Amino acid sequence: MPSTATLKLENKELHLPIITGTEGEKAVDIRNLRNETGYVCYDDGFGNTASCESAVTFIDGEAGILRYRGYPIEQLAEHSSFIETAYLIINGELPTPAQRKRFSQLLTENAPIHSSTEHLYEGFPWDAHPMAILSAMLNSLGCYYPHLATNDHQRDLQNFEETAAIIISKVRTIAAYSYRASRGLPYNYPRRDLPYCENFLHMMFSTPFEPYIALPEVAQALNLFLLLHADHEQNCSTSTVRTVASSGANLFASTAAGVCALWGPLHGGANMAVLEMLKSIHAEGDDGTKFIQLAKSGKADKRLMGFGHRVYKHYDPRAKIIKESFYSALGSLGIKNDPLLDIAMRLEDAALKDDYFLARKLYPNVDFYSGLIMRAIGIPENMFTVMFAIGRMPGWIANWKEVASNPKGRIYRPRQIYVGATKRDYVPPHQRR
Ligand code: CMC
Repeated sequence: MPSTATLKLENKELHLPIITGTEGEKAVDIRNLRNETGYVCYDDGFGNTASCESAVTFIDGEAGILRYRGYPIEQLAEHSSFIETAYLIINGELPTPAQRKRFSQLLTENAPIHSSTEHLYEGFPWDAHPMAILSAMLNSLGCYYPHLATNDHQRDLQNFEETAAIIISKVRTIAAYSYRASRGLPYNYPRRDLPYCENFLHMMFSTPFEPYIALPEVAQALNLFLLLHADHEQNCSTSTVRTVASSGANLFASTAAGVCALWGPLHGGANMAVLEMLKSIHAEGDDGTKFIQLAKSGKADKRLMGFGHRVYKHYDPRAKIIKESFYSALGSLGIKNDPLLDIAMRLEDAALKDDYFLARKLYPNVDFYSGLIMRAIGIPENMFTVMFAIGRMPGWIANWKEVASNPKGRIYRPRQIYVGATKRDYVPPHQRR
């Protein structure tokens, strides 16, 4: 492999270093391009731009490979749990039994939220979207721990283990409280005796007169959902977290920004959009055939939600796992003859045979079936993207840590190609037309 790439620009010849990742990914290092030539690179949507070096997650979109810290997603899905995987993603290695125990203890200790935060919930309109609440509450959380949110990366890193545990644990409490607030229901305090997913379901669904006891299949489905969402390299929200972190901002502020980036329907909001799409197809009496034709129009508001991916040009491996586990748990999750599931399967079938989708390499992504799983677990639709955010927290935390601990790190500050008006003189109001 060559060690440099040669670029000829005007009368200059430039030798740009080649960088290779541990999985053989090749990149041309253009960091000196502007200094030496005055040119910048144009890459709308960053489809060809590596914004950082990262050791967290590896994806080969053409081959449908996803690995957290080197471990294939299929192996983690089969053998690990969300919390063990979160530890792996954040710390780089699978925990020893002692490390795992300490992590669990930290999560248990940090599950409750300060009672004064209950007043913050009351300040939101009753129908506020839980993603807006989640982002606001995560950012506010930093106010309760000023010593962990100093915006001095060296100091914030000294307490990183505690901060990471606070966020992983409390995000679930905050999320459940936002649901309870939106329904006018009393809050359920976290319990010390319940594992992560069961505790979340208890906080969501227990009532003062009846505790919610999660079926093992339901808790397992949630565990798998969170694990499959735990990281996904430099997607929109993770890049946002890194961008915010690059200014020196603390972990609470950076993850709160990640929640906002995740909210949109092209990213984490897709799981909710898929269900809305399936429901509207069903309501119109379509079996999916008409919708597939519309989806080929190229119109942004007619896309087949849950299909396509910037990186995967093959079946998203997470979609494969989620679909298989979903099928095997259908009975235990209480799903029989779900018309939405039938429509989803027909849509998938039709799209996988259709030239439009094949030519563009559009396959189901993780969100295609995850909305149906969430629905089966009993999670209300407006909480779907919140569930994604809970799952993605380890990835955001690990990426924040990489930025914060990089001694050579620079603030993220892309260039642009200016296409606005050229210089012109101020026009006084009476001369304007
Ligand atoms: N349905 C119909 N056509 C599509 C779709 C779709 N879901 N996705 C892409 N296309 C078409 C698009 O119109 C374009 O066609 P043409 O070349 O004729 O102009 C071509 O495929 C390439 O699309 P693109 O928008 O340039 O692709 P992108 O890499 O910028 O966008 C995407 C990726 C995920 C935003 C997009 O595929 C999409 O909008 N999918 C639906 C939303 C969705 O499911 N998002 C969840 C992503 S996975 C979860 C996550 O990690 O956030």
